[in-house]
Amino acid sequence: MAGTETSGSTAAVAPDVVVAGGGVIGLAGAWMLARTGRRVQLVDPEPGRGAAWVAAGMLAPANEAHFGEEDLTRLLVAGAARWPPFAAALEEAAGRAIDYEPSNTVVVAADRSDRAALDQLLEFRRSIGLESRRLGASECRRLEPALSPALSGGAEVPGDHQVDNRALVAALLDACVAAGVELVPRRALGVETDGTGALRGLRTDDGEVRRTPMVVAAMGWRTSTLTGVPPGTLPALRPVKGHVLRLRGHERLLGRTVRGLVRGRACYLVPRRDHSVVVGATMEEMGEDARVQAGAVHTLLDNARALVPGVDELELVECSVGFRPGSADNGPHVGWTGVPGLAVATGHFRNGILLTPITAEAIVALASGAEVAPELRRFGAGSRAGVGSGS
Ligand code: GLY
Repeated sequence: MAGTETSGSTAAVAPDVVVAGGGVIGLAGAWMLARTGRRVQLVDPEPGRGAAWVAAGMLAPANEAHFGEEDLTRLLVAGAARWPPFAAALEEAAGRAIDYEPSNTVVVAADRSDRAALDQLLEFRRSIGLESRRLGASECRRLEPALSPALSGGAEVPGDHQVDNRALVAALLDACVAAGVELVPRRALGVETDGTGALRGLRTDDGEVRRTPMVVAAMGWRTSTLTGVPPGTLPALRPVKGHVLRLRGHERLLGRTVRGLVRGRACYLVPRRDHSVVVGATMEEMGEDARVQAGAVHTLLDNARALVPGVDELELVECSVGFRPGSADNGPHVGWTGVPGLAVATGHFRNGILLTPITAEAIVALASGAEVAPELRRFGAGSRAGVGSGS
């Protein structure tokens, strides 16, 4: 898969693959493609600074399993199984730690109605093979002494882990550079096709067309905005706003991730090795509204301190907003589109970091003409509802 660039003033050899979008999916895909010996360009004005930077880094197949999403849950479980070898390979390639923590998660309920809702969810998860150990309130506090004495109980969830998402982004960037990925600090605008509708390359905001036989569109929710393809080619995605807070103390407040329901609202606290705690996250259908809003910060802090009162003593160091790529059925879109040479890897919604290794593996499979993992097949690019944008 090689060609010669024809636009612009340089006559460099064209890349085998151009990856549009430098979130964790694009970065990991580019890195794994480059490791196979392919020439890879990654196009993004600020790689690693989108949703992955704001995220909390939870790897949570059980706590992200919801009623009616059994296929997606199977994918999440398969995605989690990829993490230990992926983390080891990435740390070796990048020469830096990503603080992958295979410690368990504790999920708690603030009051009796939260407990009833949590019990229903845990029962559903048990019915599809996701085990957890129910705990009374005092058992929760034995695991995590910083939890509020007023809680109504909870459960220990062994399969839900975490990684430091910012360390992950830094490692992926280093690994990409070490593997020879060319970072192009441009915004991808659209796709160029020839008279037969086949891919010619990717158009960027400097007016260039980056000629290549394969483009992987991995721009999160913005993937839907790529121009130059027939209607219905790209998945219809929307930004789902999330406020996330970062707090820091002098000592470690929690030993593991705490998730909880507070008056029906979900909340999580993810501790880091540097004594910081990531608190999240709102889910807001507000389009691309990047304002940090006082009410959202208030709600997050209120919920977090209901679960862990010691939050009051922490320093509030960051309030940020990210945009999850939301699809019609909450599942990702990974596969070839109807435009020969154009693949998508996007729509990971709340599970982008968890699904990074299995998606990167699928990108390499697509480039190699191999099959993607069976759990991903149902999440192909054009195989279900929600495909319907592109112009
Ligand atoms: N992955 C957690 C969230 O999207 O808030």
